[in-house]
Amino acid sequence: MLRTTDCGALTLADQGKEVTLAGWVQKIRNKGFMLWIDLRDRYGITQVIFDEERTPKAVFDAAQDLGREYVIQIRGKVIERESKNPQLSTGEIEILATDLQLLNAAKVPPFTIEDQTDGGEELRMQYRYLDIRRTPVRENLVFRSKVTLAVRNYLSAHGFIDVETPYLIKSTPEGARDFVVPSRMNSGQFYALPQSPQTFKQLLMVGGLDKYFQIVKCFRDEDLRADRQPEFTQIDCEMTFVEQEDVLQQFEGLLRHLLLEIKGVETGPFPRITFAEAMEKYGNDKPDIRFGMTFATLNDLAQNKGFNVFDQQELVVGIAVPGAAQYTRKQIDGLIDWVKRPQIGANGLVWVKYNDDGSFKSSVDKFYSADDLSQWATATGAVPGDLLLVMAGETHATRNQLSALRMEMAERLGLRQPNEFAPLWVVDFPLLEWDDESQRYHAMHHPFTAPKPEHLAMLEKAPESVNANAYDLVLNGNEIGGGSIRIHDAAVQQRMFDLLGFSPEEAQAQFGFLMEAFQYGAPPHGGIALGLDRLVALLGGQEIIRDFIAFPKNNSGRDVMIDAPAAIDPAQLDELNITLTPPK
Ligand code: AMO
Repeated sequence: MLRTTDCGALTLADQGKEVTLAGWVQKIRNKGFMLWIDLRDRYGITQVIFDEERTPKAVFDAAQDLGREYVIQIRGKVIERESKNPQLSTGEIEILATDLQLLNAAKVPPFTIEDQTDGGEELRMQYRYLDIRRTPVRENLVFRSKVTLAVRNYLSAHGFIDVETPYLIKSTPEGARDFVVPSRMNSGQFYALPQSPQTFKQLLMVGGLDKYFQIVKCFRDEDLRADRQPEFTQIDCEMTFVEQEDVLQQFEGLLRHLLLEIKGVETGPFPRITFAEAMEKYGNDKPDIRFGMTFATLNDLAQNKGFNVFDQQELVVGIAVPGAAQYTRKQIDGLIDWVKRPQIGANGLVWVKYNDDGSFKSSVDKFYSADDLSQWATATGAVPGDLLLVMAGETHATRNQLSALRMEMAERLGLRQPNEFAPLWVVDFPLLEWDDESQRYHAMHHPFTAPKPEHLAMLEKAPESVNANAYDLVLNGNEIGGGSIRIHDAAVQQRMFDLLGFSPEEAQAQFGFLMEAFQYGAPPHGGIALGLDRLVALLGGQEIIRDFIAFPKNNSGRDVMIDAPAAIDPAQLDELNITLTPPK
């Protein structure tokens, strides 16, 4: 070993010991007759001192040539520091160097490798290996490893077996585009990278494996956001002979275990709300329930009072923002501008101040009496001091807009506390959703999700009213998992493909293997997949998953470090029988 100990281990208890350390030079302070360096490795930072009087001359001289990020080996004695640093675990000691070996020199790094760096995002991604040397990035990766291990331990202890499924497959529809891989040996044909191992895990259940899990890469060619990467990791699970309740219990247990193990947080039973209720109360299907501001439908109270902006609308809906009645006109105008931005797309915003003295002041005083506004206050649960914000329009769009505003207000009021955890289940999703553009139904979850048995009869006459045995696990306003009880009957699966607009030939070509498998004694089964990147980020108190991925892609789906994607050699294209045409 090139070291006897690491850079995070030594304390005053080690005083007098001869040690050898190896690491990177983070910082150098040179006073002429004395030179200090901060030596860094994965475990911490230890201060090393080279003293003209106490350090051998050759070593002292060699230290003068060190630069930032040089890799060195130091031998020396642990001594007590004169000026101690309580921020560091090794802050009470330093190493008086007696020997120095240069293991490797380093170019001046393009940004400072410290907790607070001067490097911009793009630069840090280009030199991600240097970024990873920084404590916050490294700690996120260590944290991820800890979460992953806890997941494996829990699932193994509950009898799940880890099975790997292939990456070179045929399309699995999860609602995004596929990444495809051309096959050299099968000219003109392509593999698709899995959007999830969905069909394989179902086949494992047909194969009798009973309880499966896999921590697995999935690939989706979709627009990227803070919580989305083109390749991401799922904790993918499937169980046989289960009903929805069994799956919910099992995975509520997993998240409860993680919250306790990783965060020391005890959680009671997770609340459950239906999809319909989530949409009505929060305007979206992944509500953040760490705070209130639930929606109140105000149609009955606000329509037909002469304010025609509201009268014709499908939905009038409001929230009470706690303690915001003292917002100035300027602040309120700021909110109006905020909702009118193209990203939100609202036409406007009606506001009502419920003043501390119980009086009301609103943007619609002309149309509504204090009595009317007081009824709005009751409906939204407002108390004196609150600010009511009301929007109106087409139901779906208005809910979306108010939901975005609710989250923004919570952010501004500091109600989204990263160390508070509010998990919940959203259940009873509709099986299908109508897509205007393609003029056909889409599976809300995926085509393998089973309708609720009691809704099966409606599948023919009123497909849009059929609910599924599908569920999402939501944490702090983020969807961290989704799953369902699956169809295990070939005829129902065939009918489902039908509803989704697949011709029998298309269904056969794409999923014949699955429907065939269902004819060989497929057991009832169901499961879930959790988004590991999102889960880790949230447990780490953040929402940007990129920060918890060693080598993430940027917003255009590029890895700027290795410069991918990239053109390939014409010879490779020839081999694949691919001719490129210039982009349109
Ligand atoms: P679903 O599509 O809901 O379900 O995916 C499961 C979970 O994966 C996470 N996730 C993502 N995370 C980061 N980047 C992405 N692009 C991304 N897309 C999804 C989310 C999501 O909840 N086969 C089904 C599961 C099942 O039915 O068992 C599936 O993949 O946290």
